[in-house]
Amino acid sequence: MSIALTLRGGNPARVATPLLAVALPSGTQFPESLSALDKAYGGALSRAHKQGDFKGGRDEALLCVGPGRGPARVLLVGLGDYADRYGAIMRAATLAGRKGNALGVKAMAFWAPNLAGDLVEAAAFGVSRGAWDFTDYKTMPAAKDRPKPLVSATIVAHDVRASKTSFAAGVALGEGQRVARRLQQLPGNVCTPEYIARTARDIGKRHKLRVTVFGRREIKRLKMESFLAVAAGTPQDPKLIVVEYRGGRRGDAPIALVGKGLCFDSGGISIKPAQGMEMMKYDMSGAAGVLGAVEAIARMKLKVNVVGLIGSTTNMPSGTSMNPGDVVTASNGKTIEILNTDAEGRLVLADVLAYSAKFKPAAIIDAATLTGACVIALGNSATGVMGNDDKLVDEVLAAAKRGGEPGWPLPMWDDYREMIKGDIADIKNIGGRGAGTITAALFLREFVPAGTPWVHLDIAGTAYSETDLVVIPKGPTGVPVRTFVEFARGRAR
Ligand code: BES
Ligand code: MN
Ligand code: ZN
Repeated sequence: MSIALTLRGGNPARVATPLLAVALPSGTQFPESLSALDKAYGGALSRAHKQGDFKGGRDEALLCVGPGRGPARVLLVGLGDYADRYGAIMRAATLAGRKGNALGVKAMAFWAPNLAGDLVEAAAFGVSRGAWDFTDYKTMPAAKDRPKPLVSATIVAHDVRASKTSFAAGVALGEGQRVARRLQQLPGNVCTPEYIARTARDIGKRHKLRVTVFGRREIKRLKMESFLAVAAGTPQDPKLIVVEYRGGRRGDAPIALVGKGLCFDSGGISIKPAQGMEMMKYDMSGAAGVLGAVEAIARMKLKVNVVGLIGSTTNMPSGTSMNPGDVVTASNGKTIEILNTDAEGRLVLADVLAYSAKFKPAAIIDAATLTGACVIALGNSATGVMGNDDKLVDEVLAAAKRGGEPGWPLPMWDDYREMIKGDIADIKNIGGRGAGTITAALFLREFVPAGTPWVHLDIAGTAYSETDLVVIPKGPTGVPVRTFVEFARGRAR
């Protein structure tokens, strides 16, 4: 369900709400601006601070129940000892939204000292992100035992008029991330390539964007043998989806955002072990990121041209599927030896990257849950970042950091390229045991239009989590929506 966010000003003591989250940094004096609220609470808030029940540390939270006037409850949340205030507010607001949702209150508010400028955006996005959940398939308990869903939240800012734009951006970012996380969370039997195409069309309709969807017939006509090899094992129609957002000048070269959209990856004939295979419904997270980013960018009306490109199918074993040893010719003319059918994402992306040449992009960023090796290298805390242009890599790393989705660079040295040299064709779709994330990226590089700066995001470890990540529950994270949007913002006029 969506959450309605509103913006207001005034003293937090006078906000009538079932729950007011108050974000404070660690190790400072109890702020003067909270004196009225503290008084209403009989001094309980400053006492909690003084006694050390609440120290303001990162991810710290303390719930206080009030006397009946003003906010019914106050949740003190810690900002920690931060260097990056935007990031600290975003994180604390996320935790607040999550707690608010868990408490079963219908509405909540968020306040922090001197909440102004881009911090209002951080707060709005954070609360929206924290409040997100997915209950579509849960049978509702009887009305009397049912917790109230958190349907609205208020950001209490220092200066309302000066915060409107920042607030709207935070709402847009939250809605974009919701689009992505929902798509990610939907099971493979619901979120099919057809469903992703329908979602793209729906976003296009709401924001008046051109959306083009190609099926198996057109993909064949485009000579995308590499993409088709992956789709050979499934009766579902594969989809090449193009969404065009034109917020920039007419002739300005667009940014291309490319996403891997595997609605399920069984591994194909090189089948995966049963343990954990259900997680491969998340193998469309790159595609979800593209659509979530387009949703946010369109809501923000960014003055930039963006083209989203998605290759969507499922990877299944069958009598018609590709087999290890097969050789195919991608649409850019390069021949590929398919040694492992489970290295399918790069086969899909090869043809989608090559197709992006049609739009003469100024830069390409792709996102894919591409390698298990990336999860081994970086865990759930960083996206693997690689590319053919160091300046663009740095630009994307900065965008990722700003969005709270940190990335980390991996080297693209020529030595690694040797590992994917083909025996009987130009290139093999797997390297050796080592450097699996890098060889996958080097494979993709072969299909990037000549002379185009490109960055690849391996989001295998960051797109979803199998455990609770404190501010994000187990499940989809919405990565890389923020990275995409921050990059587009940086390129906007
Ligand atoms: N979708 C997987 C990568 C993946 C693994 C994502 C675990 C998230 C968690 C990808 O298609 C894949 O299967 N990659 C193989 C490549 C290998 C065969 C070279 C892998 O990582 O095992
Ligand atoms: Mn695979
Ligand atoms: Zn995959």
